[in-house]
Amino acid sequence: MSGRDLIKGLTNYGDPEFAAYLRRSFAKSMGYSKEMLDRPIVGIATSASGFNNCHRSVPDLVEAIKRGVLGAGGLPIEFPTISLGEVFLSPTSFVFRNLMAMDVEEMIRAQPMSAVVLVGGCDKTGPAQLMGAISAGVPAIQLVVGPMMTGRYRGERLGACTDCRRFWARHRAGDMADGEIGVVEDNLAVTSGTCAVMGTASTMACLSEALGLCLPGSAAVPAVHADRLRMAEATGVEAMRLAESGTAPGALITRASLDNAIRVLVAIGGSTNAIIHLAAIAGRVGLTIDPRHLNAISESTPVLVNLKPTGEQYMEDFHAAGGMDAVLDELRPLLHLGCRDVTGQTLEERLQRRPAFVDRTVIRSTSEPFHGTGSLVALFGNLAPNGSILKCAAADARLFEHTGRAVVFKNLDDLSARIDDPDLDVEPDDVLVLQHAGPIGAGMPEAGYLPIPSKLARAGVKDMVRISDARMSGTAFGTVILHASPECAIGGPLGLVRSGDRIRLSVKARTVDVLLTDQELEARRQAEAPPKPQPVRGYARLYAQHVLGPELGCDFDFLRQPEQEK
Ligand code: FES
Repeated sequence: MSGRDLIKGLTNYGDPEFAAYLRRSFAKSMGYSKEMLDRPIVGIATSASGFNNCHRSVPDLVEAIKRGVLGAGGLPIEFPTISLGEVFLSPTSFVFRNLMAMDVEEMIRAQPMSAVVLVGGCDKTGPAQLMGAISAGVPAIQLVVGPMMTGRYRGERLGACTDCRRFWARHRAGDMADGEIGVVEDNLAVTSGTCAVMGTASTMACLSEALGLCLPGSAAVPAVHADRLRMAEATGVEAMRLAESGTAPGALITRASLDNAIRVLVAIGGSTNAIIHLAAIAGRVGLTIDPRHLNAISESTPVLVNLKPTGEQYMEDFHAAGGMDAVLDELRPLLHLGCRDVTGQTLEERLQRRPAFVDRTVIRSTSEPFHGTGSLVALFGNLAPNGSILKCAAADARLFEHTGRAVVFKNLDDLSARIDDPDLDVEPDDVLVLQHAGPIGAGMPEAGYLPIPSKLARAGVKDMVRISDARMSGTAFGTVILHASPECAIGGPLGLVRSGDRIRLSVKARTVDVLLTDQELEARRQAEAPPKPQPVRGYARLYAQHVLGPELGCDFDFLRQPEQEK
C-alpha cells in the first residue's frame, strides 16, 4: 500500500502511462500537493441528501472522518452515492435498496482507494452500503449517523416512529382534539439522525456492530452526541489500519457471525425488516439464513432490551444504559466468541472489557429478561410454504392461537378504498388479509401493518391478526404476519384466499394456514386470472425480473454469490 493508490484501476485509454499522467494532472487541479497524492487513499462513501432528514449530520461526520484519516497518514476522498430517505421515496425506499447497493459497489470498485468508510444509516442505506461493499471486496468500515433524540408533547416523550403510529391510531379513533395531531407532528422528529426507537435503522446499526463491520460501541451513539463525532474520527483512523491489513468485509461474514447477528436481533427486539437485510448480506458471501434456524436461535434467546416498539424506552436511553457492549456481554455464553471485527480483535477479546455500568431498567440480564424466548418466529403452512415472519414481542399474545374469518383486500388500492368503509363486513376476531403487496406485486412496502378498520378502532379494538406478503415498519406493533412467501404476484397461495375463508394461526406450532384442502387451493389457482404484465423499461423492469423472495433477502439473483459452505 502506498502512494500508488491514485493510479490504481486506471481509466482505459489504451495507454496506461497517459492515463496515469492525466489522472495525476486532474487530481492536482483540485489543489492537492504531491505529498498528499502519494498517500494511501481512503474513500468516504457519503449519502447526504436534501431528501434525507436522517442524514443531515453527514457533512460533520465526514469532516471528523477526514481528521482521522489525515492524522493517520492517509488521504480521505469523499464521493457521493444515492441516498434513500425513508419517507421521501415512492412507492417505497425498499425497492431502491438494491439500486443503492449496486451504486456503492460499482463506485468503490471503479475508483482508486485502499479502504472505504460507509456513512449512512437511514433504514435502507445501511444494508445497501454493506451489501455493496461486501461485493466490491475492498476493506470497508461503516459509520452510522446514529439515532435521533426524543421530542416532547405535553410532557410526554416522543420518538419517531413508534409514537408516530401511536398518535395516528388515536387520531383515527377520534381520540385527539382537532389540531393536536399537528402539535405531535411538529415534535416527533426533532434532531438529525435515524428513528429514535429500535426500528430498522437502529436494528441494522446494532447488527452491523454484531457482524463486526463498524467500530465496537458505535451503533447506538446518538446523532447529535459529541461521541458520534469522536467515533467518526476513530473510524477514519481505523480505515487506515484496514487499508494496511487488507481485510475486506466479506471475510467477517460467516455462519458464526450471522448467528451472532440473529441472536442480537432477537435480544434487542429488533425489526422484522432486518431478517430480509441480513439474508441479503449473507447472500453476498454465498450463505443463506434458514428460517428454521432463525426459530432455533429465537427459541434460545430472550429479549433483553426495553425499547420501543416492544418496550418503553428510546435509543438515547439504550446508549446511556450501556448499548451494545452491555447486550453482547449479557449474551456472551450464547455467542460465537471467535468472530472477528473490523479492528481485527475477536469477540472474546472485545468482551474482556466488561461494561462499567448497565442500566437494568433498559438492558436486562438473561436471568430477568424483558421478554421470554421465541419473540421473533418464522411461520410456515399452506399460506407461506417458504416462510413468513411474526414479531411476537410486538404483538398481542392473546391472538397467538387464533382462528378467524378472512377479510381480504386484493391490493393496496383496495385496502385504502375500503378499510374505513362503515359498511365493511369485519369483526374483531377476523383476520385481515392484504394480497399483492410483495416485492414484485408492489415493491414490498411497509403496508403489512394494516390499520385497524376505523369502526373497530373507535370501538376500542387495538390489535387483530393481519397477514400479507408486505413488510412492516420496524417501529410498529401488532399481531402482523409478514413476508408471506412465495408472494401473491408469482402465484403464492396467499393470493388464493377469499373473504370468508377461515385462517388459523398457531404460534406454538409455528404455522399459519387457510383451512382449505390442497385440491381446493389448486382449483382456485387454475381459475386465477393471468399475472399482470411486467414493467417494460428501466429499473422497475430489472427489479421485476430479478428480485428474489424475502427468504433470500429480496436481493437480485445476479448479485448473490454462488452458495458456499463457510
Ligand atoms: Fe430514516 Fe426512520 S426515517 S431511519
